[in-house]
Amino acid sequence: MFIKPKKMIVANWKMNVTSEKDAERLFLSIKNVVSKLEYTNMICCPPHMYVNQVAQHVSNKNYRVGGQDAYPEESGSRTGETSVLMQKNAGAEYIILGHSERRHLETKLDISRKVTAVLEHGMMPIICVGEEQRDKNWKKNLIQQVRDVFNRVPKKEPENIIVAYEPIWAISSDKKNPATSAEYMEALEVIKKELQKIFKTVAAASKIRFLYGGSLDDKNIEDFLKNAEVDGFLVGRVSHDPRILMTMFRLIEDHVQKELFAPKEE
Ligand code: PGA
Repeated sequence: MFIKPKKMIVANWKMNVTSEKDAERLFLSIKNVVSKLEYTNMICCPPHMYVNQVAQHVSNKNYRVGGQDAYPEESGSRTGETSVLMQKNAGAEYIILGHSERRHLETKLDISRKVTAVLEHGMMPIICVGEEQRDKNWKKNLIQQVRDVFNRVPKKEPENIIVAYEPIWAISSDKKNPATSAEYMEALEVIKKELQKIFKTVAAASKIRFLYGGSLDDKNIEDFLKNAEVDGFLVGRVSHDPRILMTMFRLIEDHVQKELFAPKEE
């Protein structure tokens, strides 16, 4: 059972949790708050070996567990790999794919095979795309990334696909250099246009959900909530800081509630 389309926070713990105990402690520190949220869902993506540990605590529709990557074949002689099936059996329902921190380890074909395998297993891929620099070729590079992933994946289930726009220049930047909502919207237009071509209908492409990721925190989330068309956020650095996450949840909840109850213009 997938989470209903509310605003979504995908917490990419990366390699920042180093024991079962820590993984459990971190998850439990936010679980109660998340279970009471009305307009926000959370997908926790621990390192592979703690997926099962965290998934055992899932008892509420507001939170789910995801993997940070997965190998497309179910089993076989693949030393060191963790398959989509293994992630699924451990309790993951979502898999982050094509993250820029992994792209040097995989080919374009690998990424689309992974996306296909995740969909075939009834799970949801969270596909990361984003340009390296905002140079004169950035749009061309972004379009190429979208084509490389989507041209080869089945076009049947756009509602199960999540795309995270994560400009590489904004991710975990020490200078804390997030994109602005305006830069995100510019990229979203480029990505959506390409997806409409690939999926051959505007309706199909409009079922895909879009996230922003890249140095997002409690200071800049409001810019996106107020000024961007965004279904949620992929966070790394703040994903293991319960205090910042709580503030972000509150800002999302307040924003959605205000939007829902704002008087409609005639
Ligand atoms: P960041 O990471 O929030 O630390 O920039 C985002 C990501 O890598 O997905």
